[in-house]
Amino acid sequence: MCGIVGYIGYDQATPLLLEGLKKLEYRGYDSAGVAIHTGSELKVVKAQGRLQMLSDKINNGNNIKGFLGIGHTRWATHGKPSEKNSHPHVSQLGKFAVVHNGIIENYIQIKEELLKNGVKFVSDTDTEVVAQLIEYYYDADILNTMSKVANKIEGSYALGIVCLDKPNELIAMRKSSPLIIGIGKNENFIASDVTAIISRTRDIIRLNDEEIAIIKKDKVTVYDKNKNRVTPIPFHVDWNISTSEKSGYEHFMLKEIMEQPKSIMETIKPRIKDGKIVLDDLNFSKDDLEKISKICIIACGSAYHVGFVAKYIFEKILRKPVEITIASEFRYMDPIIDDSVLVISISQSGETADTLAALREAKSSGAKVLSIVNVVGSSIANDSDDVIYTWAGPEIAVATTKAYSTQLSVVYLLAIHMAYMLSKITKEQYDSYINDLLLLPEKVEEILANKDTIKSFAQKFCNCKNIFFIGRNIDYAVSLEGSLKLKEISYIHSEAYPAGELKHGTISLIEEGTLVVALATNDMLFDKMVSNIKEVKARGAVVLSLTTEKHKDLEEISDFNICIPQVCDMMMASLSVIPLQLFAYYVAHLKGCDIDKPRNLAKSVTVE
Ligand code: G6P
Repeated sequence: MCGIVGYIGYDQATPLLLEGLKKLEYRGYDSAGVAIHTGSELKVVKAQGRLQMLSDKINNGNNIKGFLGIGHTRWATHGKPSEKNSHPHVSQLGKFAVVHNGIIENYIQIKEELLKNGVKFVSDTDTEVVAQLIEYYYDADILNTMSKVANKIEGSYALGIVCLDKPNELIAMRKSSPLIIGIGKNENFIASDVTAIISRTRDIIRLNDEEIAIIKKDKVTVYDKNKNRVTPIPFHVDWNISTSEKSGYEHFMLKEIMEQPKSIMETIKPRIKDGKIVLDDLNFSKDDLEKISKICIIACGSAYHVGFVAKYIFEKILRKPVEITIASEFRYMDPIIDDSVLVISISQSGETADTLAALREAKSSGAKVLSIVNVVGSSIANDSDDVIYTWAGPEIAVATTKAYSTQLSVVYLLAIHMAYMLSKITKEQYDSYINDLLLLPEKVEEILANKDTIKSFAQKFCNCKNIFFIGRNIDYAVSLEGSLKLKEISYIHSEAYPAGELKHGTISLIEEGTLVVALATNDMLFDKMVSNIKEVKARGAVVLSLTTEKHKDLEEISDFNICIPQVCDMMMASLSVIPLQLFAYYVAHLKGCDIDKPRNLAKSVTVE
């Protein structure tokens, strides 16, 4: 979603802002802009479309000189994508330029008040209201002004501001939308995400809700919204910089798919010591676990699909009821939650607004919240009682792959650990699960080594208009993810169905030549899947089946077959998802789609 970067220091700001915005491109955007304090004026340039259009307009940043500036990539919410709606927005008298992520919920009311006072607006956005309001309240004291603004605006915001009267100050404020300050040597930054500034500094301050920061070249001062000084706690980011580069791959998505053996290993290995699962970050006694009456999983997108797999696993080996709910639905469905409920939130970014809101709703009802998160220090991590990090490193492609895989790995660790603590599994089962866990990276590697076979299937099916994915149990949960991956990046319509449910309606859509991808990795349900495959074939479907070596003979009744290695049923998701990721990737590639930045999608959805 929208990206913010800001700079104050001794270097030219514009090229640095463009470089930072480039790193944020992956979040998804439709226009971009910069505002530079030149010493005598605020120079603002914007362009609709790709960042390159903005870059071209300002000769790669060389046309605007100045040591203080803000930049933005916009993903439209209020007002369609256009130059006038893109950020930075400038106040009527030209004193302030503002970039904003989030949504100002009471902007219409504020706009009406300002209109009555003669303020004129030029855009359709909620952000322009903030720029005008700051100027309206401005009394030469920036802190005082921002405090009044913070007490007036409602909703979510990460704001970067420059003021014509303050050539030595970059101003920032945030609530419910992420914003960090990067501390450099005689230079400081703001950014919506670490990747924008990691090449210049790794020392970070994360602004808390309703905090205001006044940032100079060599000093950062933070206040709460009532102007009291607060002491921020900086932290160091140790992400490997090469993980945010393509390293020779054509797309980040392919690079991240290929990185999965390593990512899974890095998530699992440090947590297995002397044959035992050690989850240092988990503060649960056996007694606490016994008292859990139900587990509620909340998440969005692919993280929700991980939750789907988790439901099957937790219920199977923990014997506790599990509900899995899309986060945006959770908070408005009057969920039945009390302090006996364990809520598990799953999020790569740790900033998904719906997941964060659902988590807060659950906490306010007394539930304990455990989160599975990739980004250290993110809002979801900060608001949770316990956090298990996935340690996947930065994920750049909008369509998630390695984050999904590492989230699954954490689910296994958690389920096995809890089940053993509660004596729901024997020592032999525990050892055997751990053995399978440690084998996952090499088995994923084996599948990746066969990627050309998947590519050849993609060549056959890249012109399909509709594709169905079917499976039972965990295979169904993986079908959901396989179908989503394909839709997201190739724009081919697809549906995932529990294989047994197809005949209750959707089988009417199967006609001569319709592709059905059938997942049949579960031993117990294999025969049922054979029947379901025959049902669709009898109606003209072309079947691409996916199964394990043990059931290789499935190829006899399928048109095409993918055979993958075997682990225990519970962990098959980690293997079966890989060919589906590759299939989506190659289909999208053959169709010439913008794989890393699919249309209309955002990596981190920070508005509800
Ligand atoms: C967006 C992304 C998805 C992601 C979802 C949840 O929709 O495009 O790939 O699964 O958000 O994101 P999170 O960061 O909470 O895992």
